[in-house]
Amino acid sequence: MKEVRANGFGGRVAAEPNGPIRGLRKEYTIINEESDGYTLFNTTDERGASKRRGIVAALATVAMLVPLAFAPSATAAEGDYSGGIKGEYNALGIAAGVATEAYSGLNSQERQDTVLANFNQITPENSMKPEGWYDGNHEFAMSDNTRSLLKFASDNNIRIYGHVLVWYSQTPDWFFQADEWCEDTNNTAGVTSCPLADKATMQERQRQHIENVAKAISDEFGPFGSDTNPVVAFDVVNETVNDTDNPDTNGMRNSLWYQTYDGEDYIYDAFENANTYFNEVYADPSDDHPVTLFINDYNTEQSGKRTRYAALLDRMVAEGVPFDGIGHQFHVTLTTATSNLEAALTDMERFNKKQAITELDVTTGTPVTEAKLIEQGQYYYEVNQIIHRHAAQLFSVTVWGLIDGLSWRSGEGAPLLFDDNLEKKPAYIATSVIAPTFPSR
Ligand code: XIL
Repeated sequence: MKEVRANGFGGRVAAEPNGPIRGLRKEYTIINEESDGYTLFNTTDERGASKRRGIVAALATVAMLVPLAFAPSATAAEGDYSGGIKGEYNALGIAAGVATEAYSGLNSQERQDTVLANFNQITPENSMKPEGWYDGNHEFAMSDNTRSLLKFASDNNIRIYGHVLVWYSQTPDWFFQADEWCEDTNNTAGVTSCPLADKATMQERQRQHIENVAKAISDEFGPFGSDTNPVVAFDVVNETVNDTDNPDTNGMRNSLWYQTYDGEDYIYDAFENANTYFNEVYADPSDDHPVTLFINDYNTEQSGKRTRYAALLDRMVAEGVPFDGIGHQFHVTLTTATSNLEAALTDMERFNKKQAITELDVTTGTPVTEAKLIEQGQYYYEVNQIIHRHAAQLFSVTVWGLIDGLSWRSGEGAPLLFDDNLEKKPAYIATSVIAPTFPSR
C-alpha cells in the first residue's frame, strides 16, 4: 500500500500500485516510477520506459486521477461505476445531463442503455431550436424528433432541459422579415436581404412562438409539472451577449432580434412570455413554478464576456425580469485554465439564482493521443472539483453529446466522456466516481 497525494486537496488517500483501472477499453496501470506520485500509462502500449517517463513528466499532476479508483475506503469498489455520472452528481443535488437526440445518442439499445445508466436529464441538441418547430410552409408543429425525445424522457423518467426559445442562430430568416414570404436572396443565416419586421410584429411573433412551444408540449405530454411532462427547465434566450465590447449595442450581440427590437428588451419579453406560458397557462395548478428559466451563453469563462453578461443580468434584475438561472456553456479546450471556469461560477453567485453548466465539452486538439486523453481526464477531474465546490447553486451539469464521434467539435479532438464504442474514457472516470473518494477540503 502506497500513499498518493491528491493534488489540490492536500489530503492523502491510500492507493494500490499496479492495479488496473476497470472501465477503460485499454487497460491503464498505476506505476511507481516517480518518487512523488504515480501516473497512468497504457499497458497494451509497446512504448519503452523512457517514453513512458516522458508522459509521466508531461503529466505529473495526473496522479490526481489515482484516488478516484483506488481509495480502499471508498464505498464504491475500485472500478465500480454502477452509479454512473448521475450517481456522482445526483448525490450533490445536481442533475446529470447529456445533449442528444432520438436519432443520434439514442438510436441503438446500447446507446440508450448508456444514457439511462449515466444521465437523468437530456438537452435536445437541435430539435427544439426555433427552426425545429416550422415546416416549409412556416407552419408550427412538433417534429417527430422532438416527440420521440420527449417520449423517451417521459417513458424513462428522464428530465428534459429545453433548448432554446429565442436565439439569433438556427432560426429561420423569414421569422425576422416584415413579409415572411419575401424572398431572401442572401444565403447567410442570420442575415436577410428583405426588410425587417417592426418591433410590434416581433413582439407578437415571439409571444406566439413561445406559447406554441409550451402548448404543443403540454397538449401531448400533459401540463408542465405533471408526472408525464418531462420538461423541467428551458434556455429562454441563448448567446445574447456580444463577443467584444460594442458600445453601440451596450455590449449586446447585434442580432436580428436586437435589430428588430432596437434593443435588448426582446430578452425581457422572452422571459415574461416563457414564465406566462410554461409556469402559468400550461402549468399543472399544483406546481407553481415547474420550469426553471435560464439565460445561456458561451465564453463566460472569459472575463470580458463575463463582465458584459453580468451587466446584462444586473439590468434584468433591475427590470424585474423573471429569470431563474444563469447558464455557462463551457465549450473549452485543455488550454483553458479551469480556474477561469470556477471564476465564472463564483462571479455569478451574487445573483442568488440557479446556475447550470449547459454544454460542457473539452477538446484535446489533434492528433488525439493517449497522453492527451489522460490529460483530459485530469481536466474533467478539476472541473468536477469545481462542481463540488459550487454544488449549492448548480441546477445541472450537461455534457454536449454522448460519444466523441457525435460531438459538434469532434474535429478538434475527442471532447466527451465516451469513445465511439461507448467505452469509458479517463474523462469518464474523472467525472463518475469521485464522491466516494472525495477528500475533505
Ligand atoms: C450545436 C449542435 O451541437 C450542432 O449539432 C449544430 O449543428 C449546431 O449547434 N451553442 C449552443 C448549441 O447553444 O445549440 C450549439 O449546438 C453549440 C453552441
